[in-house]
Amino acid sequence: MTDTTAPVAFPQNRTCPYHPPAAYDTLRAERPLTRITLYDGREAWLVSGHATARALLADPRLSSDRDRPGFPATTERFAGIRDRRAALLGVDDPEHRRQRRMVVGDFTFKKAVELRPHIQRIVDERLDAMTAQGPPADLVGAFALPVPSRVICALLGVPYDDHDFFETQSRRLLRGPETADVLDARDRLEAYFGELIERKRREPGDGLLDDLVRRQLHDGALDRDGLIAMALILLVAGHETTANMISLGTFTLLRHPERLAELRADPALVPDAVEELMRLLSIADGMLRVAVDDIEVAGTTIRRGEGVVFATSVINRDESVYPDPDTLDWNRSTRHHVAFGFGIHQCLGQNLARAELEIALSGLLERLPALRLAAPPEEIPFKPGDTIQGMLELPVTW
Ligand code: HEM
Repeated sequence: MTDTTAPVAFPQNRTCPYHPPAAYDTLRAERPLTRITLYDGREAWLVSGHATARALLADPRLSSDRDRPGFPATTERFAGIRDRRAALLGVDDPEHRRQRRMVVGDFTFKKAVELRPHIQRIVDERLDAMTAQGPPADLVGAFALPVPSRVICALLGVPYDDHDFFETQSRRLLRGPETADVLDARDRLEAYFGELIERKRREPGDGLLDDLVRRQLHDGALDRDGLIAMALILLVAGHETTANMISLGTFTLLRHPERLAELRADPALVPDAVEELMRLLSIADGMLRVAVDDIEVAGTTIRRGEGVVFATSVINRDESVYPDPDTLDWNRSTRHHVAFGFGIHQCLGQNLARAELEIALSGLLERLPALRLAAPPEEIPFKPGDTIQGMLELPVTW
């Protein structure tokens, strides 16, 4: 980069929902580390090289604590949620480790395997309901959102009858439009979980939240606000992300008919397809940290207090690791992609997410052999660059 080159603005909207914005080509050319400008004109480091990203994501000198000075915000509305109680993602070790230990047992590979028949039932039910009413259908509302939403509700012990409320509030929490919406959504969700926890104290059930209420509230390891923060992140992270992967994954497959045919001919390829879709789509495109000490990396010094952003879509397209990186190709090795993050905050729900994606995509392929888009692809709305990537609607027919 020459001194006269202005840093690229980050984030930007994608023009194709499964590729990074063209403006990120500069970031790709300047791997592994470059400067970017955030929405408020502040600058931060952007990590775009695969090896550098994995080294930095494992480095305890990078903090996830939003309240630390210099923590980068990618939109105005997220800047407004500082100073609120955080769980897991917004917390550093050793407190993070303590919190993660409380819940990790419910998200193991083994647990995800045990949950498969339950997930299959939910997928079958949603497909029954969708096919009874259509074609056509909006795949987001009829399938992509309700499947993970029902799964995480059952796992946590949250009544699915409340799904309209928490899906709406999660959407406001993640997508604004204003700071006031984010804060109001957060207040409403916190109040909701406050009441739910009280109810669970009186009448314990068998979900993960019931366990936490029993184990933690009574021996004091997690106070009420801590438990509410934990419930909130598990519920929000547990349905929005996977819903976006189902909708955007389906859209991407429908835009690659030759690949789709391959998958229909050999459903055993679905797990590899899921992993490659995770890499290519990189829906969580911008993980945030702040340096708490000077860090020498890739011939540069990241100074204490400087913000660091990880562009997942660019990191997962590092040609030195993934040749021909823009091509959807599940015959490649997708090892070590960072679509679920890396290091201590690596996605807690990844085993569950993989199981849901495999079962959901297999179900769609099997039950709807003529599945296709019901609108011109360029007219189908997808999410802006400053949030988890996915489709806002996905009109399909079969
Ligand atoms: C395909 C779907 C999903 C994607 C793409 C995804 C992506 C991610 C990423 C990139 C991170 C790391 C963020 C960072 O380091 O800044 C993360 C963390 C996390 N994810 Fe997921 N996730 C998905 C599904 C889920 C599910 C189903 C759950 C279930 C509860 C979940 C719960 C979490 C939690 C709790 C964290 C924070 C972990 C920690 O800080 O220790 N995610 N996820």
